[in-house]
Amino acid sequence: MKSFTDKVRLNNGVLMPRHGFGAYKLVDENELHRSLEAAALAGYRLFDTAQFYHNEKYIGDFFRSSNLNREDYFITTKVWNTEQGYDKTLKAFENSLKRLKVDYIDLYLVHWPKIEPFFETWKALERLYDKGLIRAIGVSNFEAHHLDRLMTKANVLPAVDQLETHPYFPNHLLHRYLEELGIVHQAWSPLGRGVALKEPALKKIGKKYGKTPAQVILRWHVQNDISIIPKSEKPERIRENAEIYDFELSREEMLIIQKLNRGERVSHAPDVVYVRTEPEEF
Ligand SMILES: NC(=O)c1ccc[n+]([C@@H]2O[C@H](COP(=O)([O-])OP(=O)(O)OC[C@H]3O[C@@H](n4cnc5c(N)ncnc54)[C@H](OP(=O)(O)O)[C@@H]3O)[C@@H](O)[C@H]2O)c1
Repeated sequence: MKSFTDKVRLNNGVLMPRHGFGAYKLVDENELHRSLEAAALAGYRLFDTAQFYHNEKYIGDFFRSSNLNREDYFITTKVWNTEQGYDKTLKAFENSLKRLKVDYIDLYLVHWPKIEPFFETWKALERLYDKGLIRAIGVSNFEAHHLDRLMTKANVLPAVDQLETHPYFPNHLLHRYLEELGIVHQAWSPLGRGVALKEPALKKIGKKYGKTPAQVILRWHVQNDISIIPKSEKPERIRENAEIYDFELSREEMLIIQKLNRGERVSHAPDVVYVRTEPEEF
């Protein structure tokens, strides 16, 4: 039986909590502090941020003041599109480290694939990884052709690919490709930013187990062997999102959710970013 504290072994042996907390759009210092407090108390140990989220400093302040030891929590952050390139990435990383007030990052990701620079950014991640400043390196929003291109020159295979994944956009094919490559699939917007929560099918399944549609969706991800980082600013929802390990969806229920696939994203297709030059607005 799966549990909330389970860790997945990445392709370099590092253990990563499978179920984490997403911090996008949490920019108010007090609200973020309250959410992080609720998450830490509920047992979340993976915290996902990014240079782009403008909250690394507050997250760093929170952990400084918490009683968690550095090895007890796992921090993911990401290099933003405008900071890609060898030297710029090294600098962006140093700034993230300072804002987060830590000596190392657990998982550092290339936030989006960019056609140029492409290899230089990854080389910078490899250098930081070799120096022991990052425990695992990975990518985000990389589709099969971006991964194939990366692998023509990479010395280190990405450990994780963080991708938009929810019932309306389950990303099944890419999931299978990542499985073949031994790269962990981590779902961003695992709740589809809330858009799928009104689905009658999810409500019906939830009713059977005394669970909410959000819990049903998160459970579906976990049964699909996908790592999840749901975001909420509300303590009661943060706890709710963790309470998904005391029921199991049947094969039929998994299929019903699978059939909700509409091929509908809540954000950009990676190739829109890949081919675009500056400036960028998100
Ligand atoms: N790599 C990337 O490009 C990328 C892109 C986007 C996101 N991410 C990461 O993935 C994380 C999660 O994605 P996301 O924040 O876009 O979306 P999400 O987790 O799918 O959904 C968040 C939305 O759902 C609501 N919600 C959360 N739990 C709920 C519940 N139990 N019942 C009802 N509503 C609930 C939240 O509202 P309240 O806050 O009001 O509860 C919020 O509006 C982000 O925080 C970020 O860390 C990465």
